[in-house]
Amino acid sequence: MQGNVRPENMARITTKELADKFIAEQIADVRAQVGDKKVLLALSGGVDSSVVAALLIKAIGKQLVCVHVNHGLMRKDESENVIKVFKDELDANLIYVDATDRFLDLLAGVSDPERKRKIIGAEFINVFADEARKLEDVDFLAQGTIYPDILESVKAAEGKKAVKSHHNVGGLPEDLKFELVEPIKLLFKDEVRVVGEALGLPHAMVYRQPFPGPGLGVRCLGAITRDRLAALREADAILREEFDKCGLAEKVWQYFVVVPDIKSVGVKDESRYEGWPAIIRAVNTKDAMSATIEEIPYSVLHKITDRITKEVEGVNRVLMDLTPKPVGTIEWE
Ligand code: XMP
Repeated sequence: MQGNVRPENMARITTKELADKFIAEQIADVRAQVGDKKVLLALSGGVDSSVVAALLIKAIGKQLVCVHVNHGLMRKDESENVIKVFKDELDANLIYVDATDRFLDLLAGVSDPERKRKIIGAEFINVFADEARKLEDVDFLAQGTIYPDILESVKAAEGKKAVKSHHNVGGLPEDLKFELVEPIKLLFKDEVRVVGEALGLPHAMVYRQPFPGPGLGVRCLGAITRDRLAALREADAILREEFDKCGLAEKVWQYFVVVPDIKSVGVKDESRYEGWPAIIRAVNTKDAMSATIEEIPYSVLHKITDRITKEVEGVNRVLMDLTPKPVGTIEWE
């Protein structure tokens, strides 16, 4: 099994041929490691867990049990897409858990961002552990750990201070002991994407923009309410659709909508219409430590503003955040 240090002579995976070679090696390693036992994987639909799932489906088929937890904070159509790709197309052994109510009930009235993150992270473990306990003969847990995660934990162990907690999944409870399967832990993100494409995953999934573990929960600012969350999800979907149409999705590293808990006065159908603002954030960065603002043509901004204010219930203004990081972080919470 591979250790936690990337060998100096390990070739960077930049082509399909190199990816195919890596995939063949990992398939052999995984088969040797797990034999005929079952492997559990939390499949969020992000690049890393999706690539691990596709790799393990090739290696061990139905011995892999994927659990997709919908915490109610996913973007529009995201969970449906995970089911479509993995269950319908790749015939994965996939358990779908709609835990929306569990999460939103716990989050009701909670406005502190770090508390929100902690609640979401802890409840994710609870839901996942509940599913794990229902299964028999599972000895292994697969994870989409990648090399920057390992480098990051080395830094954390050296006591470097973080601005936000950023952890999505903590440790599982004591009664659940698994041996880890981490087939992509020595890869950098660009290599994971090349491997994902070689595995036949859809381009949009492999090149998807980063999405924080707490999901829309940290973009529906302050205490989350279902109506404001629904407005955020719709506005975000419109932004993504318009960015896709004009090619900006390929050029901008991360782009999303934030909806704060404030209302302003507007007018609609000749009547007073109080609504929330939808705030657009579109940034470019190499490593998420600093970020610059992407210039978006006014024609695109007008189109997005027009659609959001017409199509999204409860939103009556569209604003653009022009703050680089630092001083603003990428997410608002
Ligand atoms: P910030 O807001 O710290 O974000 O500038 C940097 C990058 O990290 C993402 N982010 C998170 N990712 N869990 C995650 O998995 C989190 O709690 C979290 N908070 C921020 C953010 O989307 C950006 O890509």
